[in-house]
Amino acid sequence: MKDKEVAKLVEQEEKRQKSVINLIASENYVSQDVLDALGSEFTNKYAEGYSGHRYYGGNEISDKVEDLCQARALKLFKLSPSKWHVNVQALSGSPANLAVYLGLVPLGGTVMGMSLTEGGHLTHGHKVSATGKFWRAVQYGVNSKTEQIDYEAVAKLAKKEKPNIIVAGFTAYPRVVDFKRFRKITDLSGAYLMVDLSHTAGLVAGNACPSPFPYADVVTTTTHKTLRGPRSALIFSRIDNRELYKKIDKAVFPGLQGGPHLNQIAAVAVALKEAGSPAFKKYAKQVVKNAQVLAGELKRLGWRIVSGGTDTHLVLVDTWMDGKGVSGKEASDKLEKAGIIVNKNTIPGETRSPMDPSGLRLGTAAETTRGKKEKDMKKIAQKIDEILKK
Ligand SMILES: Cc1ncc(COP(=O)(O)O)c(C=O)c1O
Repeated sequence: MKDKEVAKLVEQEEKRQKSVINLIASENYVSQDVLDALGSEFTNKYAEGYSGHRYYGGNEISDKVEDLCQARALKLFKLSPSKWHVNVQALSGSPANLAVYLGLVPLGGTVMGMSLTEGGHLTHGHKVSATGKFWRAVQYGVNSKTEQIDYEAVAKLAKKEKPNIIVAGFTAYPRVVDFKRFRKITDLSGAYLMVDLSHTAGLVAGNACPSPFPYADVVTTTTHKTLRGPRSALIFSRIDNRELYKKIDKAVFPGLQGGPHLNQIAAVAVALKEAGSPAFKKYAKQVVKNAQVLAGELKRLGWRIVSGGTDTHLVLVDTWMDGKGVSGKEASDKLEKAGIIVNKNTIPGETRSPMDPSGLRLGTAAETTRGKKEKDMKKIAQKIDEILKK
């Protein structure tokens, strides 16, 4: 790179990433092939429209890369192209979710999702997000005792509020989700079922977590967490006489975006092929095993694990423990000083502030990519314990 200033920053960031233990649950390390596709000439091309229907010339190769990405996405999740459509143009997870609401929910209609404090995402209807401003948001949480989804309570709320869409999908929920149960709830209330699979898409692809596809109308996912791709998103929609996919495609373009980022689409295609390999299946299972060992060891050392454990890549730790421990901010600051990168997080029934909440969210996707196994997770848990008790 001729630009020495930026080259230096890139080098510094590469060094930083290599020198830390990365337990950020939403991050991962992509392959060199993904990086190469991201830095390819596709970045130069404008391709407004969809494959075969573009507003610009010179797109015969762009069409091929978009088609390939779509075909690989459907294949990875074992979906028939006659039954499912996938849009690969959303620029990231938040615009993908926004596009689904824009396509399927009339402005002022009702979006029902899990609240941010209990494990949902901003784009599931939080008041500071456009999704909570353009639509009426109804939020559900977890059961205060089990700290897991209370499906009875979700059903009751849906019956009362009659949402247009129910979002099942989370940013800080460590347990597998009963998608069949969500389907029953949406059937009773007449809503669409949208699953936001952002966190566990790689685990579903690797057969380490149950698939939502038999039950959902729409599945959105980021491609950069457990799926280990570039920053982007996919929107899958069931093909039937409701023609949801047409409404969603229109919402992405021209509703929300102009030209797609073809370099991202090429890089997603690379990641999707990688995620279909036998090695990735082993990886996905190891991610979950690692998270379970991390949670188990922290628990043994006296830390409270929200919901008692994990079925995924994610561990939510109550570090505050009603004042007996340390706050989430203090914990994350102390760990960062020692080279362990995590994020502070609210826990169900949060009593503190979002800037200094009661817990930490830990994830094992990134460190598992770097080859870490159960014995390493035990050591990491012991190191965390030692640092936090100092
Ligand atoms: C469940 C969920 N949905 C959507 C998003 C948004 O993705 P992005 O940051 O790519 O906009 C996230 C990101 O953390 C997420 O966890």
